[in-house]
Amino acid sequence: MEIRLRNLRRSYGQLHAVEDVSLTIPSNTVYGIIGKSGAGKSTLVRLVSMLEVPDQGEVYYDDKRVDNLPKSELIAERRHIGMIFQTFNLFSSRNAAGNIAYPMEICHMDKEHIRRRTEELLELVGLQGRGDAPISTLSGGQKQRVAIARALATDPEILFCDEATSALDPQTTRSILALIKEIQKKMNLTVVMITHQMEVVRDACDRVAVLDSGRIVEEGRVSDIFASPRHPVTKDFLSSLATVRESIVRWSKEGGHYTLRFRGSKTDEPIISAVSSSTGAVFNIRAAGVQNVDGEEIGVMITDIGPDAEAAGKAVAMLRSKGVYVDEAEEV
Ligand SMILES: Nc1ncnc2c1ncn2[C@@H]1O[C@H](COP(=O)(O)OP(=O)(O)OP(=O)(O)O)[C@@H](O)[C@H]1O
Ligand SMILES: [Mg+2]
Repeated sequence: MEIRLRNLRRSYGQLHAVEDVSLTIPSNTVYGIIGKSGAGKSTLVRLVSMLEVPDQGEVYYDDKRVDNLPKSELIAERRHIGMIFQTFNLFSSRNAAGNIAYPMEICHMDKEHIRRRTEELLELVGLQGRGDAPISTLSGGQKQRVAIARALATDPEILFCDEATSALDPQTTRSILALIKEIQKKMNLTVVMITHQMEVVRDACDRVAVLDSGRIVEEGRVSDIFASPRHPVTKDFLSSLATVRESIVRWSKEGGHYTLRFRGSKTDEPIISAVSSSTGAVFNIRAAGVQNVDGEEIGVMITDIGPDAEAAGKAVAMLRSKGVYVDEAEEV
């Protein structure tokens, strides 16, 4: 199901939590929405999932407008949606199977159907045989698996994940993201992934929108955004990923005025040598690495270029002419 947002706005008093957001979230994709704390991510999800009504603007699922539905239709339309959260929101009074069965019981489905579907869902999320487990005995990753199974119980077409992996360690995060991707393909879902972590976007999403102070400041294919980010907020997210994560090695905290990004086949070419010998520029490389983004290799190099501004200018121009993305740090 395609989701289309047109000029959405939502304010709380003086605070514009969501400010003129227009987006198309294609069907059958994992779509990331990344932003810092307070950027408006959860508010946006509440508007898109019909939990909250926008002050202005429209929400469409395929071609159906859904932001202004009467209550009876709203309930029917919400059956197309599954949601999972950072805190899992499971019933501790019910075991794993009881949690998964709950939305089907609400819809008065046939008991035998519920039993069979619950078994299927437990298997789908890798918890076969664990239906009897009390929630308190499950790990965080297993709780999120139960929450995913419950979200899928009524065969939704859209799955909203609001910081679904934020409470999990990196390894569990990767396994949950892999599960979500697998389920997305299997069930042709539209997955909307809300996060403040660029590694979630890198590892799970096809496209991403960057939200800042209630506005979308950048949007596109994840591999394009990683190869040539434009907005400072996006660059910020990428640089925290670059220096913290294992995929890039930084051997000097100092310097690093230029960030170079190489895409695809360019990661194999001796571009730096070519630029150095033809411009006389010298490179003092501070950090480098390769990331695999959506099946594409993107090389990142953080470097100083000398010996003087003139040589650096020539080198940057030549790099850009060869299709290398070059970002210059703000003056410090
Ligand atoms: N019901 C509400 N009443 C008043 N203000 C609200 C309400 N909901 C959200 N806000 C404010 O709107 C802004 C956006 O909040 P929101 O929860 O959407 O951010 P977020 O991007 O999800 O942040 P986080 O990453 O911390 O979850 C914040 O300044 C928040 O305080
Ligand atoms: Mg939030």
